Amino acid sequence: MAQDSSARERMAGPQAEIPARTGDGQQGGFSAAERAAIYRCITERRDVRRNFLPDPVPDEVLGRVLAAGHAAPSVGFLQPWNFIVIRDPATRTALHDAFTRANGEAARMFEPERAKLYRSLKLEGILEAPLMLCVTCERDRAGPVVLGRTHQSEMDIYSTVCAVQNIWLAARAENLGVGWVSILSLADLRAILGIPEPIVPIALLCVGYVARFETTPDLERAGWRKRLPLEDLVFSERFGVLASGKGVS
Ligand SMILES: Cc1cc2nc3c(=O)[nH]c(=O)nc-3n(C[C@H](O)[C@H](O)[C@H](O)COP(=O)(O)O)c2cc1C
Repeated sequence: MAQDSSARERMAGPQAEIPARTGDGQQGGFSAAERAAIYRCITERRDVRRNFLPDPVPDEVLGRVLAAGHAAPSVGFLQPWNFIVIRDPATRTALHDAFTRANGEAARMFEPERAKLYRSLKLEGILEAPLMLCVTCERDRAGPVVLGRTHQSEMDIYSTVCAVQNIWLAARAENLGVGWVSILSLADLRAILGIPEPIVPIALLCVGYVARFETTPDLERAGWRKRLPLEDLVFSERFGVLASGKGVS
C-alpha cells in the first residue's frame, strides 16, 4: 500500500517540525510556542526512580499538579479518583518493604539471563522521593449505572489512569520527577494505606525534584526493551493493515 505524504508526516511523531499555523488569532487556539512546550513536555516526561533531591515540594506546586489530575476526562464525568498524599517515613518504609517482597517474587518469574538483568534494575524511588501519591478509583461513586460504562465496565479505571497521566505531565512541566511503582501486591497497598475493599488502588507514584531528566527511558538504556517504531504500530482502516505500506502486519 502506498504511503501518502500526510500519513508520513503524521507518523513522524511529536519531534517533527511543528506546522506554521499558530492559532494565535483563534479563540482558544494554541500558539506555536505553546504547542511546542506541550510536545516537549510529552516527549521529555520520564519515569524517574533515581536522582531525587531532598527539596520539599511546595504545597502550591502540589496543588497545581493535583488540579491537573482532577481536570482529567472521566466516563460519565464520574471523577472516580482520590489522591492520597504520603510523606510519613514510616509509611514509606512499609511500602518499600512491600516492594522488596514483590520484587523478589517478580525476579523469579523471568528466565535466568533476564532475571539477572532484572535484578540490576532500579525500579522504585520510594525512600528517596520526598513524597508519594496514591491515586485510587471509587467505582461506585455515582451508583451502579454510569453513562458510558454501561457496555465497557473498565472505563472508570481507564478514567483514573487519565488522571495519572495528567499528573505525570503536569509534574514534568513543574520540573518534578514522577516514578510509577506497580511492583507491590494490591493487598499490601490496601493494608498500608487503609484503602477499603470497594476502592481500587490504581497508581503509586514517587514524586520529587530531581537532579536531571534522562532523554531516554531507563529500561531502554539498560537494554531491557527498545522503543518500537511508530510506523509499525499504525494501521489503516482495519487491524493489521499497516498505514506505512510496509505490508500486512
Ligand atoms: C502502569 C505503569 C506501571 C509502571 N510500573 C513501574 C514500576 O513498578 N517500576 C518501574 O521502574 N517503572 C514502572 N513504570 C515505568 C515504565 O517502566 C516506563 O514508563 C517505561 O520504561 C518508559 O519509560 P519512560 O516513562 O521514562 O518514557 C510503569 C509505567 C506504567 C505506565
